[in-house]
Amino acid sequence: MPKITAEEFKFFSDLVKQSSGIALNKGKEYLLESRLSELVKVLGLRSIDELYRKARFNMTPQLKKEIIEAMTTNETYFFRDQHPFNALHKHIIPELIEKNKDKRTMRFWSAACSTGQEPYSIALLILEHFPQLSSWKVEILATDISYKAVKKGQDGRYTQVEANRGLPITLLIKYFKQQGAFWMINEKVKRLVRFKTMNLLGPFTGVGTFDVIFCRYVLIYFDLETKKKILEKLVKVLNPGGYLFLGATETPVGLPPNMKRVMFGRAVCWKKQS
Ligand SMILES: C[S@@+](CC[C@H](N)C(=O)[O-])C[C@H]1O[C@@H](n2cnc3c(N)ncnc32)[C@H](O)[C@@H]1O
Repeated sequence: MPKITAEEFKFFSDLVKQSSGIALNKGKEYLLESRLSELVKVLGLRSIDELYRKARFNMTPQLKKEIIEAMTTNETYFFRDQHPFNALHKHIIPELIEKNKDKRTMRFWSAACSTGQEPYSIALLILEHFPQLSSWKVEILATDISYKAVKKGQDGRYTQVEANRGLPITLLIKYFKQQGAFWMINEKVKRLVRFKTMNLLGPFTGVGTFDVIFCRYVLIYFDLETKKKILEKLVKVLNPGGYLFLGATETPVGLPPNMKRVMFGRAVCWKKQS
């Protein structure tokens, strides 16, 4: 017998959609139920019904934040899919070094960075292969709606299992320090990345503009209209000639026509036309 009623499902799925864009369509009752059951335990409540009544009649910003937090999926790992990082290494960063040689700045955005493995992969690639950029102003902005994921990214502290996922052993030894059961990323890498909680549904004011944006494996959670709006906003903050990466399985429905599909080896990305 399901623990969640149709009324509760509607209430929570509407709340999550409005606040984060994450669409929990019919059939996702199980997901909502299992995630909220965890939250019920953490909050010391007795049931989802009790959580529902609290949220419905006595909602606080903190409770709302915890409900959204419970519904985010933070799956990620270092150098995920590999090809985008090969494209950065072999084609895009060399092109940007030439293009930006007068202003000597390069900006990346990992929009939906989860626990930091994606922005740190970019930072590791830069430190490892582009020593000439040490005198440039290089910034990797890393944002996510999940405050817990952002905190973990800021801490740069990973378990052995997390460190084993996608990270070559040579980089682990060179850029991390073992501390008990954890691996801490070193300050040199951390300095390149600026973490911030940010909701992709909100305005992008104040983030500046970017040469490369990674927005991977997050748009899959949104409906078409939300996806289109976010893509439009992303393209606006991309510099002319800049590149956008989506997840390998994601279709760029709703990308403005000034974005041209480009392939570097097996990496697919979109380049903003000047
Ligand atoms: C599956 S992870 C992808 C992480 C990373 N981009 C990668 O490809 O490995 C999806 C992330 O999107 C975040 N997210 C979901 N909705 C969001 C929103 N409205 N604004 C910002 N981040 C969001 C989640 O918190 C989660 O960390």
